[in-house]
Amino acid sequence: MTMTDTMTDPQPAAGGPLAPAALDAAVAEALAALAAAADLADLAAVRTAQVDGRSAPLMLARQKLGTVAPENRADTGKRVNEALGAVRDAHTARLAELTAERDARVLVEERVDVTMPATRRRPGARHPLALLSDRLVDTFVAMGYEVAEGPEVEHDWFNFEALNFEPDHPARSEHDTLFVEPEGSGRLLRTHTSPVQIRALLSRPLPVYVVAPGRTYRNDTVDATHSPVFGQLECLAVDEGITMADLRGTLDVFAAALFGSGLNTRLRPHYFPFTEPSAELDVQCFNCRGEAAHQPCRVCSDEGWIEAGGCGMVDPNVLRAAGVDPTRYSGFAFGMGLERAAMMRHGVREIRDFVEGDVRFSLPFGIEG
Ligand code: PHE
Repeated sequence: MTMTDTMTDPQPAAGGPLAPAALDAAVAEALAALAAAADLADLAAVRTAQVDGRSAPLMLARQKLGTVAPENRADTGKRVNEALGAVRDAHTARLAELTAERDARVLVEERVDVTMPATRRRPGARHPLALLSDRLVDTFVAMGYEVAEGPEVEHDWFNFEALNFEPDHPARSEHDTLFVEPEGSGRLLRTHTSPVQIRALLSRPLPVYVVAPGRTYRNDTVDATHSPVFGQLECLAVDEGITMADLRGTLDVFAAALFGSGLNTRLRPHYFPFTEPSAELDVQCFNCRGEAAHQPCRVCSDEGWIEAGGCGMVDPNVLRAAGVDPTRYSGFAFGMGLERAAMMRHGVREIRDFVEGDVRFSLPFGIEG
């Protein structure tokens, strides 16, 4: 068949790709190929080859429609469209089938068994001192206090001088304080968190209500209850009209957070250079409550009371050193050692346990927080 013949063939339906038999054969071949497609990738290939690719037999047949004599064109066109429609429908149906099959298979193959034992490493535990410190800090934050911080390598002026220590105060001697080289630099490892009082007063507008937890250092030999590194928690309130009654009320809230509610507190006169008057805070023993019936008591050694920290009214010299007018403002301060309190609370015998880093020590305290 020549090009001219094709273009002018008055009865293409009699033979060639548009003949009914040829169309039927093309449809049959396409349907067989669609049915044989085993998966979606196969089906995509069959689609190109048989349904809508440029060289699919039915697409080629449709291209030939232009060569059909005008009087036959509507008829032939209708048959080509029906053939194409049947093949497209078959493709759509097979696509739905294979998609459903694939989805079902993926659900099985990629199943995740959420009840399987995990291979993850067990979580560790928060350190008991961090838990205690956070709980006490939360108590003060709930009363409106801000959290304040200071450096662990501190200057003599903040650690001692501004806190009204005399130049020859024994705490300044080498036996208690760890100095930082070079000699005479005035730098040392802070021996308490009280220098944060000065830093807080210098850096904040009045009134000042701060709580300052942190690490402190002293030249102590390690034994069951002493360590050269230990934690303290400081609190400072400076405002107009602050009295010792405010200190007592605050300490009662603190004592409840530390050892539980309903325990009495008492202040024993004491001396600190930076408070006047000064006192030590005792909290009634949470174990025996000082009752002879519950003694002997291992927690308080039958004292009935547990020492919980030092406190007092901020000395006017300290306020002056921090640029605060003591005729207008007054305040109270309080400081406590975290390890001792945690040892009392949890019956820990060795202060070393806090620094050895064995997770089995920390786990029983809980991982909350
Ligand atoms: N800084 C004191 C100490 O380490 C404790 C203290 C703090 C006492 C605040 C009074 C006021 O022993």
